[in-house]
Order: sequence, then structure tokens, then C-alpha cells
Amino acid sequence: MPNALCPMPNTQSPILHKFSLNIAKELLSIYNSPLYVYQGDILRQTIHRITKSIPYPQTKFHFASVTNGNISLLQIFNSCGWGIHANTPGDVYLALKAGFSPDKVVYSGSNLSAEEMAGLLNWGITTFNLDSVAQLQVFCEVYQSRNQKNICGAGILPVNVSRNQENVDKIRQQDSAISKEIKLGFRLNLPEITGDSRIGVRPNEFAEAVEIAKKANLKISGLHFYRGTGTNATKAFTQVINQVVETAKLLPDWQYLDFGGGFGYPYHHDGVAFDWESFGNEITDVLLQLDQKINLIIEPGRAAIAGCAILLAEVVSVKWQQDKQIVGVNTTVANLSVPSVHGGYREIISWKSGKSYVTDVCGNTTYSRDYLGKNCQLPKLEIGDIIAILDVGAYGYAMSSHFLHRPRPAEVLLENHSHKLIRQREDYDILLHNQIFSE
Ligand SMILES: Cc1ncc(COP(=O)(O)O)c(C=O)c1O
Repeated sequence: MPNALCPMPNTQSPILHKFSLNIAKELLSIYNSPLYVYQGDILRQTIHRITKSIPYPQTKFHFASVTNGNISLLQIFNSCGWGIHANTPGDVYLALKAGFSPDKVVYSGSNLSAEEMAGLLNWGITTFNLDSVAQLQVFCEVYQSRNQKNICGAGILPVNVSRNQENVDKIRQQDSAISKEIKLGFRLNLPEITGDSRIGVRPNEFAEAVEIAKKANLKISGLHFYRGTGTNATKAFTQVINQVVETAKLLPDWQYLDFGGGFGYPYHHDGVAFDWESFGNEITDVLLQLDQKINLIIEPGRAAIAGCAILLAEVVSVKWQQDKQIVGVNTTVANLSVPSVHGGYREIISWKSGKSYVTDVCGNTTYSRDYLGKNCQLPKLEIGDIIAILDVGAYGYAMSSHFLHRPRPAEVLLENHSHKLIRQREDYDILLHNQIFSE
């Protein structure tokens, strides 16, 4: 059951919209520290804003859950009418568990085994953006062998489904319905616009691929473009729309365009932000000029979810090196791996006022890269003070790990003036999970 929040005092920081020190203290007193806190209203506003920004009528939005796989947050996307974009079978598994129907999942992954492809078909997935002609070949073989033998694929079983006769019959029925609806697309590899990427298929491979698909009674009807993650320059997307569309026209059965993925988020709040409205208008103009109605898929990850979350932590130690403040906090880059290990910047704030000092915010391990923030501007802090690391909704918890052997924080969702736990804090037992003690 959600718990009611105490009234929210005003705060100066726009990103901490309605989020006060009192609320931080209240949450930490209940759920302990460190703590991921997601603001449901901010998430819904962002989803709404992105959805509204593309007027093209045949547009579907699919949240790229590589950025965040929390079931409760996925359910918010579902309730807002978005589907899921899956990078891996694990993304698909979480989407189905969160209640998405298989037709709301677009799979665009890489290097799947035949068993995994069969597993995705068993789960009812119908849209596949494939990474190579070799993957297409495997897909066609799996698909044909399922059709010929009319058996369910080995390896992965559907969620909650065991191999009894009733289920096998059900899957067979589903299979014959699915085979009519399979949508196959290619991930595009065109170095001048996709960069030096290992992913995707070159246009000069299309003709061969179309023939391979034809032999399996399938069509290549989609093209998937991925600009590369975290791009705030709107032009990097808008200036290639025509080229992507012209490339897609090389596919004789072209029906859909999946344009990524990759839209940036302004972690520097005074920096450049991706302009959804101008992107939306430009892609709409281009697609409306086509002779045929093309379905558009947009799969934002970080742009949708980064800004709704903060990581709360407590100061456990303070020291000074000349004029620099070295603040130790009770979290680590393994709880939030992005800033110092994988690059990038996250603003760190405290609710204290007063003169600010150049401050390094350091994690609670001796790992030499355990900096949550370097050269931040923060006031003098003391043991017990609370800090918040902002914009951690994307690639935050999702990239956390047990490196350094610190259990992961809990996750809490704030919505409608109440809060609820959406993932338990781990304890040290997690470090023994799957380990085998010798006799
Ligand atoms: C194909 C694809 N789409 C979307 C995403 C999400 O990217 P972003 O968070 O940059 O929107 C990824 C990330 O890896 C991806 O590989």
C-alpha cells in the first residue's frame, strides 16, 4: 500500500520539483539509505510531452527498457499507451511480466542463438529488427522449422508456461496466428550516419536479404535507425531523416520506420537539450510526403526516464585537501555506475545553503574511480547531511552491479502525494546467491 507523504514545502530547484529536504528525510527514515526515488508525475509529464511532440498519426512509442527495467515503472509506460523496445530476451521477459502484450514489444537485438529466437517466438513477439543477414538466416530457419514441424521451440519457455499438452496446443494455435503477422526489419548500418558501428546491415546487402526472407515466406518490411545514445544535437537526427527514408525505400516491402533511440537528456541543466518539437515536426513532414502510409516507431530510453529519478545518500565522512572538500557518502559507483566509470555528468545537490566549495563526492569503497561527482560546487557538509544525485533514472539502477560487493539500494516511487517501495533493498545474502559452498 502506498504511504501518504507529509506536505511538500517549496524548493528552489526546478529539477527537484516538489521534492524537499523534509521528504528526503521522511523517505530515508522509512526506507533507509542510499535510495533511488522516482517521481511518477515527472515521468508521466515527460511521456506526455514526448508523445505530443510527434504529430505524425501512425506513430507508436516504445520505451527502451535497457535503461530501466523496474516493473512498476514499465507499468507506467504501459498505462500511458507506450510499448516496450527490447534489446535482449531479458527486456522482453520483464515487459511481459509487467503486463505488456507481446504485440506491444519491438525486439531489436543482436547475436541471438536459434534457441533464443525460438523462445521469443514462443513468447509471442512479432516485430524483430535484425542485426545482420546471418541473423536473418537463422531467424528464417527457426521460423520455417517451427512452421514445418509445428512444434514449440526448445530452450526458453514462455513466461509462466510449462510443457504440458494443453500449453503446447495453445502455442501451436498462437504460432499459426503469429506467422501471418511477423514484421521483420533491419538495423541500418550506414557509416556516414550511423558512425563506425558493429550493429546493422548495409544497404548493399538488402537485395540478398530480401531473397532469403522470401524463401521463408517472409518480408523485410522495416528499417531501424539508431543514432547512438545521448545525442542532444537535434540536427544530428533531423539532417539524416531524408537519407534514412531514401534508404528504406530500397526495401521493396517497406512498411515501417523505427527511428531509435539515442535522443539525449540535458544532464547539464543549462546546456543544450534535444528539441522534441522540431524533431517531431520534421519527421512528420517527411513521412506525410510519402506515397504510402509508413508506420513510425520511436523508442526513447534515457530521454523518457532519466529526469524523473534521484539517488539519495548520506554523508558519512568529510575531509579537506587544501581548499577542496572531500565528501564520503554511503553509496558507490557500483550502485550508480554511470558517472565516473562510464563517463557522463550528474548534478549533485544538498539542501544546505551558504558559500560553496569545490567538492569531490566519493563512494564508500577504496576503488580509485569511486567518485560520484568530481569538482562539484557544494556548501560545507557534515556527517549525516543528505545529498541527492539528480537524473539517475536511465542506466542508473539498470547498470548497477555487485562489483565492490555492496548490495544494491531500494527503489521507491512517489506518486499522488504518496510513496511506495518498488524494489527491495538488497542485503549481504545477495552476495551468496548462486554460490556453492564446498563440503
Ligand atoms: C536499439 C536501441 N534503441 C534504443 C536504445 C535506448 O537508447 P537511449 O537511451 O539513448 O534512447 C538503445 C540503447 O542501447 C538501443 O540499442
